[in-house]
Amino acid sequence: MLAGKNILLGVSGGIAAYKMANVASMLVKQHADVHVVMTKNAAKFITPETFEVLTRNKVYLDTFDERPDDPVHVPHISLGTGADLILIAPATADIIGKIANGIADDMLSTVVLPARCPILICPSMNVYMLENPIVQDNIEKLKRFGYEIIEPAEGYLACGYEGKGKLPEESYLVERVLLRAACKKDLAGKRVVVSAGPTEEPLDPIRVITNHSSGKMGYALARAAALRGAQVTLVSGPTSIKAPYGVKVEHIHTAEEMYQQVTQAAETADIVVMAAAVADYTPAEVADQKIKKSDGDMAIPLKRTKDILLSLGQNKRKGQFICGFSMETEKLLENSSAKLAKKNADMICANSLTQEGAGYQVDTNILTLITRDGQEQLPLLSKLDASHRIFDKILSMID
Ligand code: CTP
Repeated sequence: MLAGKNILLGVSGGIAAYKMANVASMLVKQHADVHVVMTKNAAKFITPETFEVLTRNKVYLDTFDERPDDPVHVPHISLGTGADLILIAPATADIIGKIANGIADDMLSTVVLPARCPILICPSMNVYMLENPIVQDNIEKLKRFGYEIIEPAEGYLACGYEGKGKLPEESYLVERVLLRAACKKDLAGKRVVVSAGPTEEPLDPIRVITNHSSGKMGYALARAAALRGAQVTLVSGPTSIKAPYGVKVEHIHTAEEMYQQVTQAAETADIVVMAAAVADYTPAEVADQKIKKSDGDMAIPLKRTKDILLSLGQNKRKGQFICGFSMETEKLLENSSAKLAKKNADMICANSLTQEGAGYQVDTNILTLITRDGQEQLPLLSKLDASHRIFDKILSMID
């Protein structure tokens, strides 16, 4: 996702500096060209060679270090001006103070001054150092000048204290980089609502009727939309997946709750994608107490839930795009095309439960995008890549 992007990692002298090796490696795996500038104190926690091996680029510690890959330009300028994004993590009180006050007395504090790209700073230090009003004042000043502050996490700190000041998980830092630097922001200014996961219809205080949906497709759609700059609301049934960063999540259980949340969010949405596996039926009555077994068999009376996609299609605003999903075990394209017409949707993403690599629980999917103009068969793709193809298609139809 970062192919062609130049990411500058600034590492200052906190114990969490060692974690940045993982961050560098994860960014390289996303095909970023990663350059690392360290303070001399950072080099006491992790060696420059570690970053050099991982990034295959020279690591800079001294303001007068030369740049083998660009001998023409002055390194302390070109490293900053050439970056698409700078991430400073861990950022000690010292480097924060220097940047906030325009001090440029080492390579790291110097490269940020000429930079014109987004600069993300993750303060990481002892909780009392972090709470110090001077440090807080410096952080506020950085925010005022447009630096993006990544809030430190809370927990057990290496100094033995409990509290705020931990460097967040490496994957979280990478996600913050992706959100700023990955993908064309072609959904910027658009409001996108995605539904995901199963619903749970209660029978009694203990039992529910649900399905096998993992929520992976809907969460991937929400993440893809956020990465492309959309303002995203994810209405999610119960899942074990972590919410994508930068997405507003509304947690629901029942089909009725999903109807309420989706309908409300759809009022101002430009695009709605119903990826949730919504129950079509719910128990006609929910028992107050646990239903006790008897000797004979039993039947549970069920009543219909509201069809959310149908309601969205019937109440579609001018210019609004409504996309549904369709899961079938037979006559996939025929049944899915019928849903497109019946529910007044603009697109149906059809996936067959019988194909290997498609459907519930797995990280991949094989979709056919059905619109009024025809059908587009997608190959086996990761659910994130499939999500991007869905938004590519939607954008080609609304622009
Ligand atoms: N859907 C919905 N509300 C429901 C049931 C389904 O909005 N009560 C949406 C799903 O989120 C999906 C689409 O409708 O986007 C198609 O769901 P699917 O279960 O495949 O089809 P159904 O409409 O339920 O039709 P059938 O049960 O006959 O296959």
